[in-house]
Amino acid sequence: MAKMEVKTSLLDNMIGVGDMVLLEPLNEETFINNLKKRFDHSEIYTYIGSVVISVNPYRSLPIYSPEKVEEYRNRNFYELSPHIFALSDEAYRSLRDQDKDQCILITGESGAGKTEASKLVMSYVAAVCGKGAEVNQVKEQLLQSNPVLEAFGNAKTVRNDNSSRFGKYMDIEFDFKGDPLGGVISNYKLKLERDFSRYNYLSLDSAKVNGVDDAANFRTVRNAMQIVGFMDHEAESVLAVVAAVLKLGNIEFKPESRVNGLDESKIKDKNELKEICELTGIDQSVLERAFSFRTVEAKQEKVSTTLNVAQAYYARDALAKNLYSRLFSWLVNRINESIKAQTKVRKKVMGVLDIYGFEIFEDNSFEQFIINYCNEKLQQIFIELTLKEEQEEYIREDIEWTHIDYFNNAIICDLIENNTNGILAMLDEECLRPGTVTDETFLEKLNQVCATHQHFESRMSKCSRFLNDTSLPHSCFRIQHYAGKVLYQVEGFVDKNNDLLYRDLSQAMWKASHTLIKSLFPEGNPAKINLKRPPTAGSQFKASVATLMKNLQTKNPNYIRCIKPNDKKAAHIFNEALVCHQIRYLGLLENVRVRRAGYAFRQAYEPCLERYKMLCKQTWPHWKGPARSGVEVLFNELEIPVEEYSFGRSKIFIRNPRTLFKLEDLRKQRLEDLATLIQKIYRGWKCRTHFLLMKKSQIVIAAWFRRFAQQKRYQQTKSSALVIQSYIRGWKARKILRELKHQKRCKEAVTTIAAYWHGTQARRELRRLKEEARNKHAIAVIWAYWLGSKARRELKRLKEEARRKHAVAVIWAYWLGLKVRREYRKFFRANAGKKIYEFTLQRIVQKYFLEMKNKMPSLSPIDKNWPSRPYLFLDPTHKELKRIFHLWRCKKYRDQFTDQQKLIYEEKLEASELFKDKKALYPSSVGQPFQGAYLEINKNPKYKKLKDAIEEKIIIAEVVNKINRANGKSTSRIFLLTNNNLLLADQKSGQIKSEVPLVDVTKVSMSSQNDGFFAVHLKEGSEAASKGDFLFSSDHLIEMATKLYRTTLSQTKQKLNIEISDEFLVQFRQDKVCVKFIQGNQKNGSVPTCKRKNNRLLEVAVP
Ligand SMILES: Nc1ncnc2c1ncn2[C@@H]1O[C@H](COP(=O)(O)OP(=O)(O)OP(=O)(O)O)[C@@H](O)[C@H]1O
Ligand SMILES: [Mg+2]
Repeated sequence: MAKMEVKTSLLDNMIGVGDMVLLEPLNEETFINNLKKRFDHSEIYTYIGSVVISVNPYRSLPIYSPEKVEEYRNRNFYELSPHIFALSDEAYRSLRDQDKDQCILITGESGAGKTEASKLVMSYVAAVCGKGAEVNQVKEQLLQSNPVLEAFGNAKTVRNDNSSRFGKYMDIEFDFKGDPLGGVISNYKLKLERDFSRYNYLSLDSAKVNGVDDAANFRTVRNAMQIVGFMDHEAESVLAVVAAVLKLGNIEFKPESRVNGLDESKIKDKNELKEICELTGIDQSVLERAFSFRTVEAKQEKVSTTLNVAQAYYARDALAKNLYSRLFSWLVNRINESIKAQTKVRKKVMGVLDIYGFEIFEDNSFEQFIINYCNEKLQQIFIELTLKEEQEEYIREDIEWTHIDYFNNAIICDLIENNTNGILAMLDEECLRPGTVTDETFLEKLNQVCATHQHFESRMSKCSRFLNDTSLPHSCFRIQHYAGKVLYQVEGFVDKNNDLLYRDLSQAMWKASHTLIKSLFPEGNPAKINLKRPPTAGSQFKASVATLMKNLQTKNPNYIRCIKPNDKKAAHIFNEALVCHQIRYLGLLENVRVRRAGYAFRQAYEPCLERYKMLCKQTWPHWKGPARSGVEVLFNELEIPVEEYSFGRSKIFIRNPRTLFKLEDLRKQRLEDLATLIQKIYRGWKCRTHFLLMKKSQIVIAAWFRRFAQQKRYQQTKSSALVIQSYIRGWKARKILRELKHQKRCKEAVTTIAAYWHGTQARRELRRLKEEARNKHAIAVIWAYWLGSKARRELKRLKEEARRKHAVAVIWAYWLGLKVRREYRKFFRANAGKKIYEFTLQRIVQKYFLEMKNKMPSLSPIDKNWPSRPYLFLDPTHKELKRIFHLWRCKKYRDQFTDQQKLIYEEKLEASELFKDKKALYPSSVGQPFQGAYLEINKNPKYKKLKDAIEEKIIIAEVVNKINRANGKSTSRIFLLTNNNLLLADQKSGQIKSEVPLVDVTKVSMSSQNDGFFAVHLKEGSEAASKGDFLFSSDHLIEMATKLYRTTLSQTKQKLNIEISDEFLVQFRQDKVCVKFIQGNQKNGSVPTCKRKNNRLLEVAVP
């Protein structure tokens, strides 16, 4: 819930009062109680109007997170609970948006949290201002300048572990957009202690601070230096100077009596000196001398005096202090150089002043005096600016100005700073005065000059108002500051104001080879000796305060008043006495009173009306008119006394906090009522919405259900309708089909009937036509017959007539002939008719031959063509002529033959005569030429022996199959026919097996069939016939038989008997065997086979 809470005013959930102006009643006690109450609730910030009071919590609080930054960003000052961020935001926004330069004045005593506050302001501004690489770098440099300055300018003190030993004023510069450009730092060194023995950091015990990691801090500082822009050698130089300063604190002196009885100081341990000299690069003897002598120059005179131990210590401390403070100034300048704005454009400036607050101790010295003077001045500026602002606001808002009675501390400032009789002027006068000058002489002077001043108190003052005031010692004076009375010890005032560094020391420093140290002491240069005294510390400070004041006056001030709750640096402890003291000297009550002198509270009309409009019916919940009249109506309605408030131009001013609280109470009460109302309405609304939702849901569900039910019904109806539809359609279709079928049948019937009818018609027609045709035909036939008979009759008649005519003609001719012959007989010879006949015949024959000449067939003997005969009586002639022509052309053909061919044809003719129409084999032999010597015995060397054995001419040399007489099997034999012999030889060896003289061959038998078997019958009783006749088979049977016949005829002049019969006898040795040729045995394919059946029979199967 807490998180969701949205604050719209600091009045919300206020602990005590957030703004002291609202405190009722207002007194110290209530003030402190309010602070304490808030402090106890971790509310460390409280406002006095626009001033922020910050109580140091001494613990980290979760109120500075980035979320908090966002929360306070761009919010009105009084909108949220008091916070330093609210003030920072206000300042930043009026700088950015209203172009008002700002300054944030942070005051408070040591440890009150000023430095922390200043850092918070800077970090807030850094977080909310513009972003970007360049801007971020500037921001980073500005923020990182803090650690560097703190490292060198802060120290652990009794009051604060991280006490700023310098006052710092930093101007942050922005461009018109509110982006940071750079910054300028001014420092006000005031608190640097003279007593360095108290800060002997080299003894580690005193340097230890609980909870601080020195090494880590050192690294942070080195890193920050780097970011700010320190070069490495610069950083190292700085550290060397710091080391030298620390070492200086270790130097100790001892007295040494001199001849003149005076004590002279000597350095106890020269090692320390040596180390310092090594660090700084100064000649040891030079530095040693500078610690022992003091040279005073006046008007060309130089007087050197020795220093006693006390003087030597003074010189040492002065040197250390000077060295360190000059180093610090150098550092500030160096940082300024880095962070200064790069552009020359007009800048908006926000100054942050972190300066020590009022200091009131037991022993207050020159430093406190100076500090309190500074605070007095700041108070002045505060009074001036606050009142001025207040006044301006009243004028701006057109409110009647009521005088505010307040204490103006200008009189105190005057007491201190007046140039003629101010305390600082007196001090300077004293310091510069020749002669012996002590703190006492200074006090005396004050007693004289300031005695009458109502804020100056001294026991010895002229009018001696305080003669009996024991609280006021003799060596002191008291100033009644605006924040309270402070007693100052006069001791040390003159010295501190003089702040002298012996010239010998500055010259020694100038001689250092360490460039940074040398540059820190320019006055040590003998060439630039300046005899003029340097300005006193007081006047320097006065001048810088004056510059600061001038600077601040041009800016809009924002105050942060820091309060330290306890001396123990502890959390949760609220020391009322301590706080009371601070409240007093910070003048916070006065502050509240000043603020309340006019009106305690003011607020713009709009937020005021917004906040309280619920208190009046007319303005609740909305006011239509201008906000101001709304507020008027509201206040009238609430019956708030008229003197309690005033209407400004844009704001309502409330004089008394009481009135505001009354309004707040009423508002609280009303809010509760409203809360109840809202609750009520909300509950009503919730229930209603719930109900409406349920109703809506119910309607949706019902709608869905109805839809579903309807859909279902619809589906059912639809499907029923479909079924019915389909039935009806089916029924209709069937009906139509039936109808169609009926129609079709009708049509078909019609067609059929028509067809039948047409058929009948056609048939009838056909019949009729046929009848008609028949009739016609009959008619035709009859007609034809009739015509025929008529024609025949006619023909007959014509023939008859013709015959008759012919007969008549013949008869006529005969008769004529007869008549002619009879008549011309006497004129013709008796054989004239024969001659005519012969002549006619001759003419016909002549004509025949002449025609024949052109019709002659070719000369080929086998051409069968012959022209037909023209006249029957020429038939024998025609045939004869054909025969003669054939013989002639055969002769012509024969005449072409060579002797060789003639012989062959003779043989062929012989064969034809022998076998034509007798042997079935013959026709196949006609086309085969008779070669005779098939085996070329002469050429084949195999048969050389055989050839040699035969001297006669070989007519046939052929391989035949000789049939074995015993079994009918065949053997190959060479068959040789010579002029006189028939020889059989072995086919392989060529050896002659049998030799038969042709005269012994009686007969050759063969079948009439288409086979090559033949038997050679031998003369009975001859030598060759001892084994019996030969039975051969050969492929050239016709040729062999022919040649055998011709040779036998030519040799023996006897015709060889050739028997052609399918059954003949052969003589095998003593047996007569019948060789029988059987036709049609297909057993051995197309080859005829021979088999000896028995003694008497040898069967040859011819296919
Ligand atoms: N807002 C804060 N929240 C938490 N701790 C704080 C806050 N302000 C101050 N402190 C604590 O108080 C200590 C002292 O604060 P700071 O150094 O700001 O005092 P100062 O007023 O600057 O003192 P001096 O005058 O000696 O410089 C800080 O070191 C820190 O521990
Ligand atoms: Mg500080």
